[in-house]
Amino acid sequence: MSYPGHPVDAPLTVDAPPAGARAHLFNDRTVDHYRTSLARGVDRVATRIAGAERPFSGISPDELAPGLAGIDLERPLGDIAGALDELEDVYLRDAVYFHHPRYLAHLNCPVVIPALLGEAVLSAVNSSLDTWDQSAGGTLIERRLIDWTAERVGLGPDADGVFTSGGSQSNFQALLLAREEACAAGSRSELLPRLRILASEAGHFSVQKSAKMLGLAPDAVITVATDQDRRMRPAVLARELDRCRREGLLVMAVVATAGTTDFGSIDPLPQLAEVCAAAGVWLHVDAAYGCGLLVSPTRRHLLDGIERADSVTVDFHKSFFQPVSSSALLVRDRAVLRHATYHADYLNPARMAERRIPNQVDKSIQTTRRFDALKLWLTLRVMGADAVGELFDEVVDRAADAYDLLSADPRFEVVTRSQLSTVVFRYLPPAGPERELADDANLFAREALAASGAAVVAGTKVDGRHFLKFTLLNPETTLDDIAQVLDLLAEHAGGYLRAKTAAEPVRRAG
Ligand SMILES: Cc1ncc(COP(=O)(O)O)c(C=O)c1O
Repeated sequence: MSYPGHPVDAPLTVDAPPAGARAHLFNDRTVDHYRTSLARGVDRVATRIAGAERPFSGISPDELAPGLAGIDLERPLGDIAGALDELEDVYLRDAVYFHHPRYLAHLNCPVVIPALLGEAVLSAVNSSLDTWDQSAGGTLIERRLIDWTAERVGLGPDADGVFTSGGSQSNFQALLLAREEACAAGSRSELLPRLRILASEAGHFSVQKSAKMLGLAPDAVITVATDQDRRMRPAVLARELDRCRREGLLVMAVVATAGTTDFGSIDPLPQLAEVCAAAGVWLHVDAAYGCGLLVSPTRRHLLDGIERADSVTVDFHKSFFQPVSSSALLVRDRAVLRHATYHADYLNPARMAERRIPNQVDKSIQTTRRFDALKLWLTLRVMGADAVGELFDEVVDRAADAYDLLSADPRFEVVTRSQLSTVVFRYLPPAGPERELADDANLFAREALAASGAAVVAGTKVDGRHFLKFTLLNPETTLDDIAQVLDLLAEHAGGYLRAKTAAEPVRRAG
């Protein structure tokens, strides 16, 4: 055994492993414990992954909670094997497994192995990306990845950004920066109540939440109507901007979405950018979902226009097959990140910036921050960007096939053809009185399917009606899986209708 600076032939004194609490501290004396402990954990997970016949056990909170409540946290088990056995019961056995091809619900992707390696390394070394003196190379790796992503977006030479905990935080920070830029125009207290954000009616709710956290008026977010494909209408946006101006309201940002959560629709970015440029308004593009197109070998053009944004949200933990968390906020003009800067004497005094010490905390709303960038780094270094894009392309293709399948199936009604990988549809009872029960039948089918554990699908509302949703992010999901899930949904919904109409015959119209 040798380590840097230690000659191979020099005798190495190996201390006895520490006892008591110190046995669990990760250091030079406990590396064997680290190796065996992690290997055991990895083995448990591998066994679960290999043996998962269903994405979910279907367990209810009431069934799972007592086992957890019965654990006495004041009485540690003392060893890894015992803790892992217990974890099997309270977590691993009943967890929701996103790698399973019939997990079709939310924007959770199966993850790639190089990223899992990154996760293990980053948590063991435990760098904190706030300051150079807590991360060194980690800071430079994050910076390279921000530059790489900004270049893929096409934001230009002054771009910058920072990794965040997720799309909600990225959107929040973008809007914080936009608010600060808007407030520079006058008195903050006078401007704040007049600030408005324009976002598509299909945009993500984190925009509304951000507006609240930013101290804006309750009606600060104005939703802009979408077309039949659920994309923001540029003409309506232009009209709204005009109306705000006439009414003395100050639009601090327009939020376009490149990949809406429900419909996978991409707002017409070139036209929206044109409207925003004409009005001199900050354009934020929420590409939390659609960012996978940045590496798509065949569909990058769907993001055309994104290069004109002032800020962009990307969620690598949605369409780059990265484990949670992995997200970033990018900005066209690095100077705007100063709104997130505060110099604390103990951490990042101004003199450090003058000496060009790269402290990422100067750009972030977090202080201590995970080195999430390492997962993407290893992914790119092992697989390469094209390989990630090919995986994403596959799920987009599969969603198109699923749409065709549903369109040809008289049992279902399907909404719009997604530009990404969602499919929104519902079971449609035959015309007649049973149709009145469509909402309840779809709600029932979704819950019954999840309770069976055979598959997990999502739900949403479209024009006030309950619909079901597939979010396809797993290239292993086949069209056959989708067909089987549709049969199961139809069975559950049909069973619900039969039970309902037998118990209480539906009133015949007329
Ligand atoms: C379009 C969009 N933006 C933002 C978010 C929020 O991302 P996160 O869950 O990473 O905070 C989501 C999540 O689904 C999303 O779909």
